[in-house]
Amino acid sequence: MKTSILILAIAYLLGSIPFGYLLVLIFRKEDIRATGSGNIGATNVARSGAKGLGILTLLLDCSKGIAAVLIAKHFAPSSSLDLAPLAAVAAILGHVFPVWLGFRGGKGVASALGIYLALSWPSALAALGIFIVIFALTRYVSLASILGAVVLPLLFVKFSPDHSPVAIGSMVFISLLVIVKHHANISRLLQGKENKFGSKKDKTE
Ligand code: G3P
Repeated sequence: MKTSILILAIAYLLGSIPFGYLLVLIFRKEDIRATGSGNIGATNVARSGAKGLGILTLLLDCSKGIAAVLIAKHFAPSSSLDLAPLAAVAAILGHVFPVWLGFRGGKGVASALGIYLALSWPSALAALGIFIVIFALTRYVSLASILGAVVLPLLFVKFSPDHSPVAIGSMVFISLLVIVKHHANISRLLQGKENKFGSKKDKTE
């Protein structure tokens, strides 16, 4: 029990590292929350003019999701078979509600990708393919992210050998959280006001 709680705490803390915020603060001496959409994720970091930092944010946010799940898989007591999906939930909660930023974090897309890469890589790659197609067709990162989040649990059920209720419930929870965090994007998409990635007007409020 103690080991499981420690692993979940580590997963939360890993998820809570706000890489986008830190990179922009360190390398550009700016607060990413004060620019563009205000999100601390890779899209907004790239939107702020720091494309390299955006890519780095994507890789690091993805990596912390991978790390949280791999640590749980490796150190879970044999009695805690569901610890990996629960660690995935802890990591995404860390990213979305980081204690260091007053519990106001990112939207969880890159972290969710990392989580799935570690839990069920075929699901992650299939969702990534869907993301790329939707993004290429529309240039809306948010729409591609939302639809990716919608299909991820379905892909998980199809591709993962772990069909326990806790695992499936965890994946559904992660997707719901990602979608809810995109509420402002959804509202802009419905109003036709969401800006396309890379467009000159790509300055969302
Ligand atoms: O990963 C977040 C992305 O889907 C939307 O980001 O900054 O346009 O709200 P943003």
